[in-house]
Amino acid sequence: MTKRTSPVVIIGSERSEVGLPAAMAILRDGGTAVDAVEAALRRCEDNLADHYVGTGGLPNARGDVELDASLMIGSSRAFGAVGAVKGFPNPISIARAVLEKLPQHCLLVGAGAELFAEENGFVRADLLTEDSKALFRSALHPSTDSVEGERTAAQVGDERYRQAAMDLVNTFAPHDGPWGTINILALDSTGELVVGVSTSGYPWKYPGRVGDSALPGAGNYCDVRFGAAACTGRGEMSMRVVGARGIVADLARGLDPDQACRAMLADAATLEDSFAAELRALALTPDGRHGGAAGQRGSVYAVMTPSSTEPELHPRSVL
Ligand code: GLY
Repeated sequence: MTKRTSPVVIIGSERSEVGLPAAMAILRDGGTAVDAVEAALRRCEDNLADHYVGTGGLPNARGDVELDASLMIGSSRAFGAVGAVKGFPNPISIARAVLEKLPQHCLLVGAGAELFAEENGFVRADLLTEDSKALFRSALHPSTDSVEGERTAAQVGDERYRQAAMDLVNTFAPHDGPWGTINILALDSTGELVVGVSTSGYPWKYPGRVGDSALPGAGNYCDVRFGAAACTGRGEMSMRVVGARGIVADLARGLDPDQACRAMLADAATLEDSFAAELRALALTPDGRHGGAAGQRGSVYAVMTPSSTEPELHPRSVL
């Protein structure tokens, strides 16, 4: 095992528990934070019971699952991301490939990201599960028997369908509970800090919508000198306040992780947002302190250290 020179810790947002034990096994063996973050998120993306990430993620307004993911390395501030990717179950691994194999770029979207994934050997899969189809039908098209039928109609330019989707996007309010994205933040034994984020984005989003999860500074930011941060929930709000970057800037000013996350949420709370949806944040410092904040009571995040036998849930502080 590698000699430990830094505290080792991994934290994740709601529903990350399925991924953290495998990631901690990597870290315990002296493995890297980037391997641990990718391993954790791949398990979350493959979790069919989770409708906000990877396979089984809820589709856009036309019934297509479009995924966003990003990875940021604290020592180099290298960033790799993909947005609005269809047909590949593990966008976090494509984001890592962008970071490692395409260093002249940070972010690929849509068809270009899919081309890059194919060229790099990623295998296509159908991401729309029966459960997700049923949720799509009941939310958008209660009288429709087949998602396929609706997609065909949309593809031939059914104006009524498009108008219905637009109306829905314009009036959509998220359901109760911790919906959305998964954040994983890890500190390895060498002191490297890494953040990964993966999501299927806003359910029933307008096709092509890319959220904060793919954007450096908004949903994901990491600087090994000061700390790491990531956001879940209403991505348009964290984009507008550059949320994750703001949290790391506050860590650099000496705020503790809870305070830094709350400060970002307080800034976001000054925005007019007709969707009135919640934003949540997590932060991890280079010395292993961690915290999180949310706009609602009851929100938690998961933590593992080398001595953990399973993820422990910690409360987020409430704005
Ligand atoms: N925070 C995830 C999203 O807005 O897509």
